[in-house]
Amino acid sequence: MSVTTLRADKHEEWRLSAVGWVRHRANFADAAVPSARRMVELAQAGPGQRALDLACGVGVPAHQLAEAVGPTGYVLGLDIVAEMVDGARAWAAARGLTTVDFKTIPDECDLGVEPGSFDLGTCRAGLQYMVEPGAALRSMHTALRPGARMVSMTVGSPQRCTSLRILEEVVARHIQMPALIPEPDKGVPGTVALSDPADLEALYREAGFTDVRTEVADHPIVGAASAEEYWDVCERSAGPFILLLRSVDDRLRAAIRADAIATLQTQFPAGPVVMTGETLITTGTR
Ligand SMILES: C[S@@+](CC[C@H](N)C(=O)[O-])C[C@H]1O[C@@H](n2cnc3c(N)ncnc32)[C@H](O)[C@@H]1O
Repeated sequence: MSVTTLRADKHEEWRLSAVGWVRHRANFADAAVPSARRMVELAQAGPGQRALDLACGVGVPAHQLAEAVGPTGYVLGLDIVAEMVDGARAWAAARGLTTVDFKTIPDECDLGVEPGSFDLGTCRAGLQYMVEPGAALRSMHTALRPGARMVSMTVGSPQRCTSLRILEEVVARHIQMPALIPEPDKGVPGTVALSDPADLEALYREAGFTDVRTEVADHPIVGAASAEEYWDVCERSAGPFILLLRSVDDRLRAAIRADAIATLQTQFPAGPVVMTGETLITTGTR
C-alpha cells in the first residue's frame, strides 16, 4: 500500500471515530488524568511556557498542559482530523479557556509552526498511529527550542492492551476477521505499532533528541459507568471496529453487543468498567 493510500485510510478511520470521541470525551479524558499529569510533569511544563501537543484529539492532555502553563502560557493542539479539532475547540470554549488553541494539520510532517517557538512538546496516544512517526518526532524537534522536553505516550505490551483485546475476543467469536491487534510491526501504524521501547527510543535519537528514556507503567485508558456504556463508547470510537460492525446485519450486531456486555459484566461485576493498559511514556531533550 502506498504512503498516500495508507494516510488516506488512517485519516478516514479517525474521521469516523471522531463522532464517538467528541460524544464520549469524558470516558477518555477522565481515565487519561494520571498519564496526562505524568506527561506534563516529565515535560517540565511551567508558568508562561508555550506547549505544543501533537495528535491532540478532543483536547487531551491540553487541560493538564493549560493548568501547568497558566494564564500567561499558551497551548497549541494539532490533529489531522478537523472533527477532532472542532470537538477540542468546543470543549475549550465551554470551559472558557482562552490560552488554548487547536488547529488541523495535513500530516505529521507539516506542523505549520515557527521553528524553535515552543518550550515543550507532547504527543499522547498518537505516534503509533502515524505513517511516519520518525518524521513526526523530527517535526517536533524543529518546533521546540533547545533544551525543551518532548514527551510521548504510546501503548506498551499488546498482551496487556486490555481495552481493545477484550473487544477483539468478543467480536472474533461472531465474525471471522483478521487480528485487530496484530503483533507489533513498526512499519504498520496501529495501536501497538510502537510497543517496543527500544524502537521508540531509536526514533527519538534519530530525530535529534538526547537523554531519551522510557517509563513503563499501567495506566487507565478508558472508563465507563457500566458495561453497556463501555460497549457504546467502543462501538462509536474504536476505529477498526466501526466499519466492521457497520458491515454486519442488525441481528448479528445485537448478538455481539449482548455477548460483549455479558463478558464485561463478568469481569466488572460491581458495574463501572475501567480498562487499563501498559503505557510507555518516553521523554527526550531537544
Ligand atoms: C487515540 S487518539 C488520542 C487523542 C488524544 N491525544 C488523547 O490522548 O486522547 C489519536 C489521535 O491521533 C490523531 N492522529 C492520527 N494520525 C495523526 C497524524 N499523522 N498527525 C496528527 N494527528 C494524528 C487522530 O486523529 C486522533 O485524534
